[in-house]
Amino acid sequence: MKPFFLAKRFVAGVQLDDAIKKSKELQEKGLAVTLDHLGEDVTDASIAVKATQQYIKILERLAKKKLKVNIAVKLSQIGLAIEEELTYNNLEAILKAAKKYKLIVEIDMEGSQYTSDTVDAYLFFIKKYPSTIIAIQAYLHQAYDDLKKIAKKKGRVRIVKGAYKEPTTIAFQNKKAVDKNYILLLEYALKHCPFTFIATHDEKIITHALEFAKKNSIKTSKCSFQMLLGIRRPLQEQLVKDGHACRIYVPYGEEWAAYFSRRVRERKENFWFAVKSIFSR
Ligand code: FDA
Repeated sequence: MKPFFLAKRFVAGVQLDDAIKKSKELQEKGLAVTLDHLGEDVTDASIAVKATQQYIKILERLAKKKLKVNIAVKLSQIGLAIEEELTYNNLEAILKAAKKYKLIVEIDMEGSQYTSDTVDAYLFFIKKYPSTIIAIQAYLHQAYDDLKKIAKKKGRVRIVKGAYKEPTTIAFQNKKAVDKNYILLLEYALKHCPFTFIATHDEKIITHALEFAKKNSIKTSKCSFQMLLGIRRPLQEQLVKDGHACRIYVPYGEEWAAYFSRRVRERKENFWFAVKSIFSR
């Protein structure tokens, strides 16, 4: 199936070749890339194993092409909805392959039913695979405690606001509260983690991060901005022009629909934005 034409701005395509082509285009503009082979909530062990094998093949392909891009993995795609042992075996197989090819794995954070198990799996492997990165969602009340545990073990983080619908008992619901927590997490991560991805399109937070890093003499090699494919492209390019690192998260694969609907839920304009983008660059 070809990507639904409206989702095309946000999804590189269906095949790895589409994602590789897009990665090269972005790298030519000075942007770094993280590839996400879309898929989540797998409930059949054989499919989780197949997804793991696919990730290993992707890593092999990237190494063969000498493409320095990170890969993003959702643990529910490789067994978290089924069994811990299966997940750990699959995750270790991916981390081992990434280490062999000197590539980096970023672990996405999913809905709250998976949060603590994802953090535990990350902490279990961090010593052996120290370049691995984990996403932390600022809308979750538990995020600060999770971040402290991760920082204590010298973990690397991607700070995001959070994209899933979560109840008031566990998550901040309004932008002001989420942004406040984001800043708290960001400052803590910049000070205490060996590496931080500032994953947001929010210019206020980006400006704050730059000022905070400057004021606290945080080396630019210790952090990078990170944005989603197709969102705020001029800002992505401007950051690079200004000498800052910016990495683009590039999703691809047949399961583009759930991803696209999250982007539309965040911003209804994305639907019209996508329609307009058919006629613009
Ligand atoms: P916010 O939503 O406050 O938006 C700030 C401004 O950015 C808006 O005013 C608008 O101008 C622009 N903007 C934001 N979203 C837009 C959109 N969809 N379309 C157009 N413009 C938009 N989530 C998660 O739960 N787990 C994860 O692992 C990840 N991983 C991840 C990686 C990367 C690289 C990014 C950038 C984001 C994620 N996310 C994520 C998604 C994240 O949680 C969040 O849903 C989105 O980034 C939107 O939030 P902002 O930080 O951009 O701020």
